[in-house]
Amino acid sequence: MGWRNIIMNFKTDILEIFSKQWALLTAGNKEKFNTMTVSWGGMGTLWNKPVVTVYIRPERYTREFIESSEYFTLSFLPEKYRDDLKILGSKSGRDCDKLSMTSLTAKPVENTMGIEQAEKTILCRKLYKQDFCADNIPEEAKKFYEKEQLHTMYIAEIISIIE
Ligand SMILES: Cc1cc2nc3c(=O)[nH]c(=O)nc-3n(C[C@H](O)[C@H](O)[C@H](O)COP(=O)(O)O)c2cc1C
Repeated sequence: MGWRNIIMNFKTDILEIFSKQWALLTAGNKEKFNTMTVSWGGMGTLWNKPVVTVYIRPERYTREFIESSEYFTLSFLPEKYRDDLKILGSKSGRDCDKLSMTSLTAKPVENTMGIEQAEKTILCRKLYKQDFCADNIPEEAKKFYEKEQLHTMYIAEIISIIE
């Protein structure tokens, strides 16, 4: 099935799925991986490919895994896991085995990792990245960078969507 079929069958409210549902971004392999909550992102088209865009700060441990891998997954979970997403979005895998503090479990997805309990998993292949530039941040968004560093934008090809 080509990507057009995948996209035609995949229905979502793109303005809500990241901001309201949140997602887990997971990268690495069976031996070593990490996952974190993300709620800023988008989906669309670039270079005639279906793509997903996420914004990751340099401080995130997960970012090291994104950097060292070609693939990562985005997992969208049922509402009952909201508290688990809060844990994975506030603790760092650098300091603890945070996944074991939740009711979630990881599973291999192709050559990367995903989350067993996900209702949708998007397998992503990195295509492009760019660090945000301080000069280009509008006044209204400067408050997001008072305590933490500028995001890196990652654009990744949607390889498959597992529902
Ligand atoms: C709802 C929610 C959304 C978040 N979205 C993002 C995001 O889009 N980008 C980002 O860099 N951090 C985001 N975070 C923060 C990370 O999930 C958080 O810093 C996490 O502890 C990083 O874990 P790690 O160090 O194990 O990678 C979000 C946190 C929450 C609770």
